[in-house]
Amino acid sequence: MKAIICTKYGPPEVLQITEVEKPKIKDDEVLIKIHATTVTAGDVKLRSSDFPYMYWLPSRLMFGLTKPKNKIPGCELAGEIVTIGKNVKNFKSGDQVFGYSGFTFGANAEYISLHEEGVLAKKPINMSFEQAAAVPVGALTALHFLRRSIIQNGQKVLIYGASGSVGTYAIQLAKYFGTEVTALCSTSNLEFVRALGANEVIDYTNEDLAKCKKTYDIIFDTVGKSSFSNCKRLLNKDASIY
Ligand SMILES: NC(=O)c1ccc[n+]([C@@H]2O[C@H](COP(=O)([O-])OP(=O)(O)OC[C@H]3O[C@@H](n4cnc5c(N)ncnc54)[C@H](OP(=O)(O)O)[C@@H]3O)[C@@H](O)[C@H]2O)c1
Repeated sequence: MKAIICTKYGPPEVLQITEVEKPKIKDDEVLIKIHATTVTAGDVKLRSSDFPYMYWLPSRLMFGLTKPKNKIPGCELAGEIVTIGKNVKNFKSGDQVFGYSGFTFGANAEYISLHEEGVLAKKPINMSFEQAAAVPVGALTALHFLRRSIIQNGQKVLIYGASGSVGTYAIQLAKYFGTEVTALCSTSNLEFVRALGANEVIDYTNEDLAKCKKTYDIIFDTVGKSSFSNCKRLLNKDASIY
């Protein structure tokens, strides 16, 4: 099969399309023909070894000290199941699915094998493969952190990076949890984040949050652009910091 491979850290030019062996499945795995995959902000950071200073060594130990451990990048995919292992119960050949391969990566390829109990679900019929492939990382990351913040009905939530893959899900999930959402993004994305349900929008290119008089129960910075002291000032007194 064809796959993108990344054999060293560096700029996009380190990526090559090449022939590799098609994955074999175990008894509890499915083989998926991938119709759509993604390149996330995380994939870009990993390829270029752009890790925060403090986390550089732990990240390199985790993902590969001198070169990426997993040669085929990509962790989001949507496609069709072509073969199932003999113990697989939840899926059958022909099912259209979308999923997340996690830190084993391997999604920027023609085929991938995934455990049937992994992050894998049938694709809603009203979603294209392209739409479905772009769901897992943003949606799961947003859900994880909003749950950790013990989000509750009626709270006020401020979301930094609201127009990104994590931020767009954070807005929709925060609204689902019954909160009042203020979304921060650049000028060209203001209408977009408003359409996703944000009650208020702030253009970070025009407004200085340091002068903001409002306070929030939860501040979710999806891009690490806020200052800790500023966030602390913008938090309600009884809010917890995670
Ligand atoms: N650890 C994990 O599991 C995990 C998972 C997913 C993502 N991440 C990380 O989380 C970060 C966000 O990921 P993503 O996929 O959402 O990225 P993304 O899709 O590239 O979105 C980033 C967003 O940040 C906004 N932004 C840029 N500068 C800003 C600023 N100064 N103030 C406020 N917003 C600003 C941009 O909005 P405008 O275009 O409107 O400027 C953009 O929409 C990345 O660093 C990624 O590596 C980590």
